[in-house]
Amino acid sequence: MTTVLVTGGCGFIGSNFVRHLLATDPAVHVVNFDALTYAGNLANLTDVEGNPRYTFVKGDVTDRDAVRAAMKGVTDVIHFAAESHVDRSIQDSGPFLKTNVIGTQVLLDAAREFGVKKYVQVSTDEVYGSLGDTGLFTEETPLHPNSPYSASKAAADLLVQAYQHTFGLHAVVTRCSNNYGPFQFPEKLIPLFVTNLLNDQQVPVYGDGMQVRDWIHVLDHCRGVEAAWRSGKSGEVYNFGGKCEKANLHLTHLLLDLLGKPKSLIKYVADRPGHDRRYAIDCTKAERELGWQPLVPFETGLRETIEWYQANAAWIAAIKNKDYLAYYEKQYGGR
Ligand code: NAD
Ligand code: TYD
Repeated sequence: MTTVLVTGGCGFIGSNFVRHLLATDPAVHVVNFDALTYAGNLANLTDVEGNPRYTFVKGDVTDRDAVRAAMKGVTDVIHFAAESHVDRSIQDSGPFLKTNVIGTQVLLDAAREFGVKKYVQVSTDEVYGSLGDTGLFTEETPLHPNSPYSASKAAADLLVQAYQHTFGLHAVVTRCSNNYGPFQFPEKLIPLFVTNLLNDQQVPVYGDGMQVRDWIHVLDHCRGVEAAWRSGKSGEVYNFGGKCEKANLHLTHLLLDLLGKPKSLIKYVADRPGHDRRYAIDCTKAERELGWQPLVPFETGLRETIEWYQANAAWIAAIKNKDYLAYYEKQYGGR
């Protein structure tokens, strides 16, 4: 049997990935290794609890002993665990360097030691920096990370490639654009704005709101990570994107329309320091070499995502009762 160690499986993308893999491959056992930080939520996977092919291990990727203990019997590693929010990395980069860089090093060492067959590093298009009005990121675009978050992810990517080159570890790196979908922690743009608007609260648009992101449904990303794991060539990088560029302000207007809320709920706030202007992905390599393509049309995916947040008020309330409110008061209080 294939036993996959999925790190960060209680987060947004990791939990969608674990559910997807268990549902589509009866020959796979998933070991979900997650520290349950503010972003990790056992409630994201209650539906797979009790599945005999699923094991949860609470542990920190920077803890060498815990990682080595979890690695016994593991054939493959798919590494999602990370500190993932740019705004938090601007407030304090320490946890980003520790988890994203040192955590990756610890995992790579253990993967080598335990003879793991395949290692997948789940990375981000943000390592390429910012685009102007035209052009797309390809896998050949030089790394130019601009935030502490993206710098920590770029460092981890380089470490993975160095281990692949030096030790012959079978490793691939995936770089995806902005994800949306169910179970996303309401600090990122779409779930923050949807959950605020559902409560008739204002939504903070940074700067002029004309920054562009390329949106992809989380299940399209999960299918991409799976394809890179199964068919990716060792040492290669694969970009994934939704071919769906939207300026933040246009997306905000779309959310207001879909939810039937007035424009007066838009609150323009100070821009994010060092804010990347535009991300857009060329994913022809993944289409050509992995037979992958994004399938979920944005408006359909967005409507379903809104419906999911509407139907899961208890999930939102439980999160917003935690450290969330204190954090957001600190974050936006002065803006
Ligand atoms: P998330 O913040 O929702 O979840 C992160 C998960 O990792 C949580 O369950 C958390 O508990 C766990 N974690 C954090 N630190 C840990 C540690 N030290 N040890 C063990 N577990 C730890 O993140 P996400 O949005 O699901 O992103 C997952 C991965 O995908 C990240 O590597 C991120 O860089 C990458 N990515 C995200 C996006 C996006 O749009 N969200 C896009 C491209 C790539
Ligand atoms: P985010 O969801 O934090 O993802 P990333 O910074 O990794 O792309 O932000 C998406 C875009 O939305 C980004 O341009 C910043 C902007 N944004 C706001 O305008 N207001 C907000 O409250 C948030 C969280 C983001």
